[in-house]
Amino acid sequence: MNRRYRKTIIAGNWKMNKTATEAKKFADDFKALLPKTKWCDVVVCVPSVDISAAVRAFKDSRVAVGAQNLFYEDHGAYTGEVSAAMLCDLGVKYVIVGHSERRAMFGETDAIVNKKVHAALNAGLNPIICVGESLDQREMGVTMELIALQVKSALAGVAAENIRRCVIAYEPIWAIGTGKTATGEQAAEVCGFIRATIRAMYGARIARSVTIQYGGSMNPANAAELLGHEDIDGGLIGGASLDAGKFMDIVNAANQG
Ligand code: PGA
Repeated sequence: MNRRYRKTIIAGNWKMNKTATEAKKFADDFKALLPKTKWCDVVVCVPSVDISAAVRAFKDSRVAVGAQNLFYEDHGAYTGEVSAAMLCDLGVKYVIVGHSERRAMFGETDAIVNKKVHAALNAGLNPIICVGESLDQREMGVTMELIALQVKSALAGVAAENIRRCVIAYEPIWAIGTGKTATGEQAAEVCGFIRATIRAMYGARIARSVTIQYGGSMNPANAAELLGHEDIDGGLIGGASLDAGKFMDIVNAANQG
């Protein structure tokens, strides 16, 4: 983390978990644990159908509600899809774009990710853009090439003044939901490389202002070590964000640094 230049953001990704009723219960439990002073930005990315309940439940707290996906068109015959404007209208502030599960299971390509990033920014949402390599790619030694490609294509055509609104989440696929976390050194190396890639595209001043998260089995036991690295400005947390107590422990770890 480096709070001088950029925000620390702890974001939960509930994936396809929790009903709207359960979302409200989580919000009540989580709000009761919120520290009074000094804390980082906290986002909870909930299933689309839980958004209204979550926005209502977190109203009067500093927790922002995020979505897990959006479609890039404004409106039209796209059965089952949700637009950026629809999310904004409900009070959503962040949206995850290009999560590896969407890339692998729902055919989300780098070109689609780029369109979604533009749609989110145009509507006033802050995209949390996920990038990350598979185990095969890591073992083949192509991690950095792949990350550079994902970052550059996600940000293609994004104006410099909008980069600060983008969050990049480095999520090695082999660490997601596996209990296998990247070491602090591995995560910091790639997060530093992402910042260098942004620096080459937009210059040093902008690059140092971008929040770059780590995601992949982050939990209360490993959060402090990961967040202790200069280039790791927060986390995107799946499994451990489903439990109010565990998620708050990670927020507290971010507040310590
Ligand atoms: P995990 O998921 O924390 O359960 O590994 C992270 C993510 O997919 O964003």
